[in-house]
Amino acid sequence: KKLAVFVSGGGSNFRSIHEACLRGSIHGDIVVVVTSKQGCGGADYARDKGLPVILFPKTKLEADGISPADLVATLRSFEVDFVLLAGYLKLIPAELIQAYPRSILNIHPSLLPAFGGKGNYGMKVHKAVIATGARYTGPTIHFVDEHYDTGRILAQRVVPVLAKDTAEELAARVLREEHRIYVEVITALCEDRVIWREDGVPIIRSKE
Ligand code: GRF
Repeated sequence: KKLAVFVSGGGSNFRSIHEACLRGSIHGDIVVVVTSKQGCGGADYARDKGLPVILFPKTKLEADGISPADLVATLRSFEVDFVLLAGYLKLIPAELIQAYPRSILNIHPSLLPAFGGKGNYGMKVHKAVIATGARYTGPTIHFVDEHYDTGRILAQRVVPVLAKDTAEELAARVLREEHRIYVEVITALCEDRVIWREDGVPIIRSKE
């Protein structure tokens, strides 16, 4: 399968996905990387690995960026099967969601629907988890719709919140689990092991 990864930040999830593709545990290839931020860690890593990087900014007006329609056309030209958001902070345009139904995944660092939605990203999420006294948190992988963090949930993993955790310590514990679960889910996706229940909930079938 051909994969597009969208990044805006450090890119550690992108890196773990790329490494899993290279060692063959994911039966897929990253064919293009899309970033909203030139010069972010993820975009630099992609260039370093010789992957094509496309700038997709929030407005059409930014000189070297492209429009949503161009973005769809570009992904089609790379024959992309699945779009993986990995620390990508912008809303995905409706054109892209319609062009890739049931094919766009995001990872969020809390157990959605808790601590999700616009403005709930990065360290803010972990601070909010600690401040509410929640005892458990963890990554959620969900399909992407036209809003922040509301698409159907595909996988989650529980991570304990310890009494003395700082937001940074908690973020690091969750991030380790993000790397594992995202690779597992993409592995299943590329092996056509994601199936859709009649009520529209996606399920991962385990390997026979
Ligand atoms: C992760 O916590 C992810 O859940 C969130 O953004 C962060 C990205 O980290 N969407 P990285 O860029 O993959 O290191």
